[in-house]
Amino acid sequence: MENKIKIAVLVSGGGTNLQALMDAEKSGIITDGRISLVISNNEGAYALKRAADGGIPTAVVLKKALGSQQAFEEAIIELLEKNGIEIIVLAGFMSILSENFTKKYDKRIINVHPSLIPSFCGKGFYGLHVHEAALSYGVKVTGATVHFVNEIPDGGEIIMQKAVEILEDDTPETLQRRVMEQAEWKILPLSVQKVCHSLKEDKK
Ligand code: GAR
Repeated sequence: MENKIKIAVLVSGGGTNLQALMDAEKSGIITDGRISLVISNNEGAYALKRAADGGIPTAVVLKKALGSQQAFEEAIIELLEKNGIEIIVLAGFMSILSENFTKKYDKRIINVHPSLIPSFCGKGFYGLHVHEAALSYGVKVTGATVHFVNEIPDGGEIIMQKAVEILEDDTPETLQRRVMEQAEWKILPLSVQKVCHSLKEDKK
């Protein structure tokens, strides 16, 4: 019987971090977990195509169609339970989960955020906005953070961080790309492996 930790990846957009996770599983960086399900809250997300191309089952859950945050989260939980998911990775998932949800999966939800937390994080800081804020503040170093998710947006325990230099002529777009390449795509797979490994050890 396969004893790898079953991972669900929650996405909303392009899915480059999902791709990094899929590649890391293939190349042997993630050895203790298996990406078993991808859930999107956006039916047009390119991440869904990446998952399908990689042979990973996908599901779409739309808050608007379900009518409330509670119904949205219940639908996600039903999918997670049905698929025996043990760890949830938020990889560009642009929806804040309530305390009901985060409490249920304590130390089992991992998020990647494109700054060095506690800078440029919390409500309203997502995607390109984070890099716009870093540039307008004038910081010379930024980076990415992988952390556990709790009831405070971007407030859970930090798992890994990596710094990235800001260049004179950076735009939000060039900075976003460099932070992804140099930090996010590296520390997210390493963090997922770390958490899966310790969960596997705990099960022994
Ligand atoms: C990534 O930069 C991720 O860190 C960020 O959105 C992007 C998603 O890209 N997430 C947040 O800002 C969450 N607060 P991707 O869909 O290509 O992985």
